[in-house]
Amino acid sequence: MIILEALFFIIPTYVANGMANVIRVFPIIKRWNTPIDFGRSYKGKRILGDGKTFRGFVGGTFFALIGGYVQYFISQKYEFTHVSFYNEASLLKVIALAGLMGFGALVGDAVKSFFKRRVGITRGRPWPPFDQLDFIVGGVLLGAPIYFPGWTIVLILLIITPVIHLVSNITAYLLKIKDVWW
Ligand code: CTP
Ligand code: MG
Repeated sequence: MIILEALFFIIPTYVANGMANVIRVFPIIKRWNTPIDFGRSYKGKRILGDGKTFRGFVGGTFFALIGGYVQYFISQKYEFTHVSFYNEASLLKVIALAGLMGFGALVGDAVKSFFKRRVGITRGRPWPPFDQLDFIVGGVLLGAPIYFPGWTIVLILLIITPVIHLVSNITAYLLKIKDVWW
């Protein structure tokens, strides 16, 4: 199924985006919160803001590489992707793609933050749909020199990612993990 294929392809970006956030809770690591913009401002507004850290970039990319390693072995075992790329590519190539996509996801997210600050939205405030799509765009772009899955898959991802986001947020809200449903 093409949706499954799309989701399989995009795993490294979800992992990078999620882990950049989640690793905040790890002891020791959480103290390393130097922002990429080193706290500097441009025309009175932060360049990127405190939400974009070196920790996030390093941790997110690291876990994306691990994700690529897992993807390789999944695609060896199950042929649910008829995307022959994963079945034919070497382990190194699959990991390289995942690393580039993970890093690209974080670059896309940081570029979004740059424009978010310029239009005057402070760090952590919602800015739909850009908050939900920035990492998909960045990941697909940086991964494209190694592998581009085609526009149909990209379109599917741009549609289902905000939906997944909304459903998981509402679930977290109902489970009382989050205070707001969006
Ligand atoms: N994070 C990080 N480094 C990154 C990306 C994310 O440390 N490169 C962490 C930050 O703690 C951030 C959290 O993950 O607050 C959630 O990420 P995101 O929603 O992208 O950042 P926001 O805080 O919402 O900031 P912005 O408004 O700039 O998107
Ligand atoms: Mg945010």
